[in-house]
Amino acid sequence: MPEMTYKRLGGSGLKLSTFSIGSWVTFGGQQDMDTSKKCLLAAFEAGVNFFDNAEAYAGGQAEVVVGEVLKDLKRSDLVISSKVFWGGEGPNDVGLNRKHVTEACHAALKRLQTDYLDLYFCHRPDPDTPILETVRAMHTLIQQGKVLYWGTSEWTPEQLTTAFELADKYNLEPPTMEQPQYNLFHRDNVEKGLAKLVQERGLGTTIWSPLSSGLLTGKYDEGIPTDSRLGQVEWLQELVLLEGRVEKVKALKSISDDLGCTRAQLALAWAAGHAHVSTVITGASRVSQVHENLAALDVIPKLTPEIRTAIEATLA
Ligand SMILES: NC(=O)c1ccc[n+]([C@@H]2O[C@H](COP(=O)([O-])OP(=O)(O)OC[C@H]3O[C@@H](n4cnc5c(N)ncnc54)[C@H](OP(=O)(O)O)[C@@H]3O)[C@@H](O)[C@H]2O)c1
Repeated sequence: MPEMTYKRLGGSGLKLSTFSIGSWVTFGGQQDMDTSKKCLLAAFEAGVNFFDNAEAYAGGQAEVVVGEVLKDLKRSDLVISSKVFWGGEGPNDVGLNRKHVTEACHAALKRLQTDYLDLYFCHRPDPDTPILETVRAMHTLIQQGKVLYWGTSEWTPEQLTTAFELADKYNLEPPTMEQPQYNLFHRDNVEKGLAKLVQERGLGTTIWSPLSSGLLTGKYDEGIPTDSRLGQVEWLQELVLLEGRVEKVKALKSISDDLGCTRAQLALAWAAGHAHVSTVITGASRVSQVHENLAALDVIPKLTPEIRTAIEATLA
């Protein structure tokens, strides 16, 4: 296994492993405790330090599983996140109002069996809550030592700019990071939308679905295997299997073959090689995927400008 590298989270001093691991769909849901534990520990042993979670994942069960595994490891070696937005059915179990942001943090700390969250994300923008209320709630949690850095996920550049301006104006903690989807098929939001904030505000990016839910591995070349994510989470099929995509993934094979890597590694290395990406959050349903994906570290230096151009041409 190649030696892990670490990158700063945007303009902060916090270091995240170039590849990290998240618990969406897999841990506490698709996979049992034994497999979840093996995947998480395989990632940790390979140098992964960032473990991404959310109150919404498997209705909180993902955080229970991750907490049970990580509780035996040295806390200072770990960067643990949660996200707030979808917490339940009640009127105040959702969104980014002060009450839910605070209660969701307390509940995540219990499930994850930890005293503080390193990173706490607003999982989506909340049109029902003034942004200032959310910034103040996050600021308070940071002052209380329950959260170290706060951020957003899938916020627009305009919403983030408002949060930065309000934090400046009232001397509150600004957001440190945004969590956008970013992969070979989904690029504009990061490359066009967030670029200015990454440059000017030092916004960090912890990117999700780098393999487009597995599509970029080539596993859907000949249909949908029943033991795959799209075989098991059917509503994802129409979001992922858009027209022409399988053919483009097939065409990437000649590039990965020439580099002596898999298509999964090519797609992961492509994402991780960008200066504007702080960490690539991988997902894995089995240990062999963790090993294959983390070996993409060796592929990053192979992606010369010529190879990147060839990838662009293949996807155009
Ligand atoms: N902020 C947000 O709104 C948001 C949204 C989504 C995800 N996330 C975060 O980002 C993390 C990663 O997202 P993701 O799980 O969608 O990542 P992904 O890398 O796009 O997809 C991961 C899935 O692809 C398959 N896979 C992975 N490596 C493979 C390999 N080498 N060969 C074959 N199949 C492979 C596995 O599914 P199967 O084996 O079951 O097919 C795995 O669970 C999540 O866990 C979560 O923490 C955040």
